[in-house]
Amino acid sequence: MQVIESVAAFRQAHGGAQKPLGLVPTMGFLHEGHLALVRRARAENATAAVSIFVNPTQFGPSEDFSSYPRDMDADLAKLEGAGVDLVFAPTVDEVYPAGFDTHVDVGRIGARLEGEHRAGHFQGVATVVCKLLAIVRPDRAYFGQKDAQQCLVVKRLNADLNLGAEIVVCPTVRDADGLALSSRNVYLSAAERIAALSLHGALVLARELHRAGVMDADEIRARMRRLIGEQPLASIDYISIADAQDLTELDRIDAAALVSLAVRIGKTRLIDNVIL
Ligand code: PAJ
Repeated sequence: MQVIESVAAFRQAHGGAQKPLGLVPTMGFLHEGHLALVRRARAENATAAVSIFVNPTQFGPSEDFSSYPRDMDADLAKLEGAGVDLVFAPTVDEVYPAGFDTHVDVGRIGARLEGEHRAGHFQGVATVVCKLLAIVRPDRAYFGQKDAQQCLVVKRLNADLNLGAEIVVCPTVRDADGLALSSRNVYLSAAERIAALSLHGALVLARELHRAGVMDADEIRARMRRLIGEQPLASIDYISIADAQDLTELDRIDAAALVSLAVRIGKTRLIDNVIL
């Protein structure tokens, strides 16, 4: 496994790599959710590449960029164990050198939900993913359904800018009790972790109501809100039932719907979703 910090060195290593090449972009502090993407990239490509870069431009000024968990040694051991060939782990200055001034803005799809609650977040994501796809030039790039809106933003960006990668979306990996794996779960105290189960609980409730024939989205949103409201440690940022393609909010569930939510558990902001 080669660990590379500079764009120039990555370009060189990439030139000699066998194709197809699969890339898994990450911000590190790897867990089984990331590793599921890595194993899929390993299985489907001659060369498996992973990027580790905590991208400052996708964090707001009051968000957790400086405290975001990092453990490069543990990450590299996990990637070595998974049979990864190339790791791209650049510094902030390597990705955003002095004079950097181009930003990628993904229109409507990036303006809703997370985009509404985290100003500038998707511009930061789209810009760094665009750069990673330009540097690594993968045949396939792997993303998790856990970040459903990010997947839509990346697909839009990849199509609109003719970046030419196949975007592969992988299912959400959860703990046995249903909590979606996230690097941010390490912030949770024992009591907060119990409260955090209400996110998955609310999504399961939505699926059950839908299966039982409830099509009124407002009724489902209200029932989800009530369930999470039972947790004093939880405070809801949004609960959305939206068209799974364009993310417009639905009144009635008559097409594929993305049920998604963002909830603060103490100081930790968690997101999760299911497709109905
Ligand atoms: P990060 O949060 O590290 O996630 C990297 C990838 O792992 C993303 O595609 C994310 O959706 C996926 N992932 C995270 N938790 C998962 C889970 N429980 N199950 C399945 N997949 C999961 O997302 C980012 O980094 C960044 O925004 C990035 C795309 C790297 C751009 O900076």
